[in-house]
Amino acid sequence: MDEKSVIDIRDAAVAEVTGARSAQALDAVRIKYLGRKGLLTAVLRGISSLDPSERGRVGKAANEAKSVLAGLISDRARELEEASTRKAGAATDISLPGVGQWVGRKHLISIVTGELKRIFVGMGFSVATGPDVEDVFHNFTALNTPEGHPAREQSDTFFVDGGLVLRTHTSPVQIRVMETTPPPIRMIFPGRVYRKDAWDAVHSPEFHQLECLYVDRGVTFPDLKGTLAYFARRFFGPGTGVRFRPGYFPFTEPSAEVDITCVGCRGGQSPPDSGACRLCGGTGWLEILGAGMVHPAVFRSVGYDAEEFTGFAFGMGIDRLIMLKYGIRDIRYFLESDLRFLEQFG
Ligand code: PHE
Repeated sequence: MDEKSVIDIRDAAVAEVTGARSAQALDAVRIKYLGRKGLLTAVLRGISSLDPSERGRVGKAANEAKSVLAGLISDRARELEEASTRKAGAATDISLPGVGQWVGRKHLISIVTGELKRIFVGMGFSVATGPDVEDVFHNFTALNTPEGHPAREQSDTFFVDGGLVLRTHTSPVQIRVMETTPPPIRMIFPGRVYRKDAWDAVHSPEFHQLECLYVDRGVTFPDLKGTLAYFARRFFGPGTGVRFRPGYFPFTEPSAEVDITCVGCRGGQSPPDSGACRLCGGTGWLEILGAGMVHPAVFRSVGYDAEEFTGFAFGMGIDRLIMLKYGIRDIRYFLESDLRFLEQFG
């Protein structure tokens, strides 16, 4: 054994370490050269049998080779380790479930509001909106609801500083439109309304209404009836009937509460096997809106000539219409942002 042979062994070992493609292959190289029976180990063991003049150089070369090799092996081990983690990260495991794409959709209230608009626009109405934060004049006073009227009760209305309220209905938009536009008016006003109501299956402090106003010369109660009868059939289906009951609103005279034939038992024609219909309680009718002929006092408050013009108005609860049509039992679903509910529509 001479110095040159040791250097040859070292060079071969370096080449094999660099060429090792796996942790196992690298370990085999380590054992081959540095193991108990490894080539370099053998050289070092054999030093004592060498010619004394050779021992120093051969021993030095072998020790150097050993430490160079040990360093290279540990560097290469780290490289292989890093490469295998990178590979794991980049690999595509086609057996894994896919990453879902969240697609936004319209809220059911928006979908149905759109449907309502299309029905009324088809009849010749146009669409306008007003502010959610209203002044007391538009929400109450101009609607023939003077101070002291029960509808102005503290207990029903959310008051905002500075004589403002969260509108309790969409009727104030009637006033805003009439203040700025001369008749004829054929318009609908969809929007959010607020009342200090309970938070239960059928009440929410925030809900939606669709208001309708038609003012012209010679508008009559039959115009109101015809409009609503047509609307009910379009929205709830061909067989739907409407019924008008006397009602009271400060801003209409006469006033009516309007029912449709029950969507659960088809107006009592197909009552459920056991007992009364859950929806209408067996009456065959469901109340869906308030309506009436515009009160002359309302016309006066906007400067219209109450002798020359007549009009009808109605306001319906959009949330309630949807609950009836879709069989939704709890109004709170509309505000709770629960995707399991929202994803079923749109
Ligand atoms: N504003 C009334 C309500 O909120 C509904 C209504 C509108 C009644 C127009 C008559 C005319 O209950």
